[in-house]
Amino acid sequence: MSNERKNLTTASGAPVGDNQHSLTAGDSGPTLIQDVHLLEKLAHFNRERVPERVVHAKGAGAHGYFEVTNNDIAKYTKADFLSEAGKRTPMFIRFSTVAGELGSADTVRDPRGFAVKFYTDEGNYDLVGNNTPVFFIRDAIKFPDFIHTQKRHPRTHLKDPNMVWDFWSLSPESLHQITILHSDRGIPATLRHMNGYGSHTFKWVNKDGEAFWIKYHFKTDQGVKNLDVDLAGKLAGENPDYHLEDLYNAINDAQYPSWTLKVQIMPEADAKHYRYDPFDVTKVWSHQDYPLIEVGRMVLDRNPENYFEEVEQAAFSPAHFVPGIEASPDKMLQGRLFSYSDAHRYRIGANHEALPINRAKSGVHNYQRDGQMRFDGNGGGSVNYEPNSYDGPKESAEGRINPFEVSGMADAVNYDNEDHYSQPRALFRDVMDDGERARLITNFADHMRGVRDEQIIERQLKEFYKVAPELAEGIAKELETEVPEDIYY
Ligand code: NDP
Ligand code: HEM
Repeated sequence: MSNERKNLTTASGAPVGDNQHSLTAGDSGPTLIQDVHLLEKLAHFNRERVPERVVHAKGAGAHGYFEVTNNDIAKYTKADFLSEAGKRTPMFIRFSTVAGELGSADTVRDPRGFAVKFYTDEGNYDLVGNNTPVFFIRDAIKFPDFIHTQKRHPRTHLKDPNMVWDFWSLSPESLHQITILHSDRGIPATLRHMNGYGSHTFKWVNKDGEAFWIKYHFKTDQGVKNLDVDLAGKLAGENPDYHLEDLYNAINDAQYPSWTLKVQIMPEADAKHYRYDPFDVTKVWSHQDYPLIEVGRMVLDRNPENYFEEVEQAAFSPAHFVPGIEASPDKMLQGRLFSYSDAHRYRIGANHEALPINRAKSGVHNYQRDGQMRFDGNGGGSVNYEPNSYDGPKESAEGRINPFEVSGMADAVNYDNEDHYSQPRALFRDVMDDGERARLITNFADHMRGVRDEQIIERQLKEFYKVAPELAEGIAKELETEVPEDIYY
């Protein structure tokens, strides 16, 4: 930054005569409407906020790079940014909580958003995941209802465990995610000490047109660390921005956090026979069935220069793919393909893709023109329709999707798998140790204590019983109640 002091100007560039005192009629007279600088200053201030994100409003961002470490990945995808070991791609990440508003506390029990934008040579690839490998629901049509239960009650404007557990107890597909959420990992120590997951299944396509199903895992190189519940509560009051501050300071002190990206790869044909529907986002694929394969390393080495410009205006969309990476039929992912860019058009405008943080560094060439806040030259005098005789940009074979077969009746149907229990059971019984199991039970009970309606507790305890009787009984004991008898059939 230049040290040369510049004269203060209005937004239209005219020098400002006085920025400390308004123009008045006489020494104590009323303020003059002629003080156009004052009017402009107040008016611009009134327009400083864009709508906060409807979910994931509170967040921290950082710049960095992704470097491929495995030459074999090109066997599975033709994505250029993954083509060879040593290839580096600039990226930007935004971490977030889900339910809280823009100013809410960081150290709460909530999933953490883990949204990565890779500025590849073939356009932006966005991987908009969480720090959990699964999700609460598995059909986009339930998302607005689910989020209403996580936000504030329409009458009290308070967070409301009654509506949270009402919804969860009536949506048993949530059991896996709520077990992760109420485990120690529900409150990460810092944003640097948690894993990230793509959560959905995605499709990779190689140069020969062969397709594979993929799950992404970003494993933290700092190690997983979590916060003790009491300390988290204290920090939420004392320093609501604890996680933002930690990330900023770490990068500022050149303690660059990194993650190793690994994938599980399922050959396309396996999907029909796998013991879980591989497109159901409430399920993981066992590591024994599909082991993790290293892809590369993500390093965060630069803080944003301006929070609003880079973090608030960042627009991540699961619909931003590059050749070699495509959607799967996951019904949540399919809904998300619509939802994000729609949110961005509302939140930051029709031309949000032209903002510097969102703009593809590889170039954007199309026939989209005009609209509010068009500040990038708008295509100048170049041809603005297609087909044309004037050498305008043309479609290319690289952009074509891998054709796939569809069949069946159009209908509104559930996934044909009602086993919501075996995976949270494996987590509870096989992965957690005694201490983690005990804390899980306490965390569940502490939250459920806020439920007013007894039938909700009963229904949820029945669901927990199907995960593991000792889980349901442990929670019931802490709530000084019993697991309802009709479960013992
Ligand atoms: P593994 O023993 O191979 O893997 C267990 C996984 O659980 C590890 O990835 C571990 O992460 C992770 N983990 C440990 N504690 C928690 C926690 N409190 N919340 C969330 N994840 C945790 O077993 P399987 O692959 O057979 O899976 C068994 C169960 O582990 C699953 O049902 C699922 O609940 C859970 N899990 C599985 C994952 C998968 O992709 N297969 C991913 C994450 C969880 P780390 O190694 O980083 O410590
Ligand atoms: C943010 C919708 C499921 C991760 C958002 C936003 C919307 C949204 C509208 C705000 C976007 C913005 O204003 O910039 C949905 C819908 C879902 C869904 C409709 C289900 C159908 C998920 C899932 C994950 C996820 C399953 C993770 C696996 C995120 C993240 C953000 C976000 C990380 C914040 C992105 C950022 O940092 O800007 N979601 N979401 N969402 N969502 Fe979802």
